[in-house]
Amino acid sequence: MADYKKPDYWQQKAREEGYPARSVYKLKEIDEKFNFFKAAHSTDSRLNGQTALNVLDLGAAPGSWSLYVLRKMAVMKKGALVSVDLSPLSREFDKGLFDGGNFFFIQGDITTAQTRETISAKGPYSAIISDAAPATTGNHTVDAARSLALAEEAANYAENALSAGGSLVVKIFQGGDSAALLKRMKTLFETAKSFKPQACRGESVETYFIGLGKR
Ligand SMILES: C[S@@+](CC[C@H](N)C(=O)[O-])C[C@H]1O[C@@H](n2cnc3c(N)ncnc32)[C@H](O)[C@@H]1O
Repeated sequence: MADYKKPDYWQQKAREEGYPARSVYKLKEIDEKFNFFKAAHSTDSRLNGQTALNVLDLGAAPGSWSLYVLRKMAVMKKGALVSVDLSPLSREFDKGLFDGGNFFFIQGDITTAQTRETISAKGPYSAIISDAAPATTGNHTVDAARSLALAEEAANYAENALSAGGSLVVKIFQGGDSAALLKRMKTLFETAKSFKPQACRGESVETYFIGLGKR
């Protein structure tokens, strides 16, 4: 069994490359395999005239996915990011990126009406990324149900605030009743599938649902 107290390969690599969490490699793999942001961006003609890459990051703290997106936008010289979490982001590695004019952070609960309103006022989005996860209780049934509720919330945002042609990635704890969510995503997107990145620990219950090309 893995020793979770020792920083593992991915954790160490994340610190060396300036990210607060190992989870960045899951998004990187998804982006590289599915051309995730390019897919969302290249369908501009179907983005209701929206030309910029406008990304929403749900459950963003400590901020690795947000940093990955902002660094990508810095290279592309375009794009804006809205990130949301119950907790503040870590400022250890961002080198001022979280102070940039193309970044907006909402400290709040993605399931509340107030947060929903702020998020939708900043939209529409060309991509939604959700790594939101509940604080685990150790009871797998409870944890999977709470995780699924957050994933369904992310799908609601995709339904209401994602532009046509846009992409969604959402974290799922396997074992819950997630089949209905994947089915829903298949109606919302041209392509929807489950994908488990290498950087998920071997024994981890988490996986991701990816939706490409919002109808
Ligand atoms: C696995 S962490 C995300 C890691 C992040 N993607 C990164 O790369 O740094 C899951 C996050 O989901 C957040 N979260 C859980 N429930 C939430 C909710 N209802 N609203 C907003 N954030 C939530 C937690 O606070 C936690 O920071």
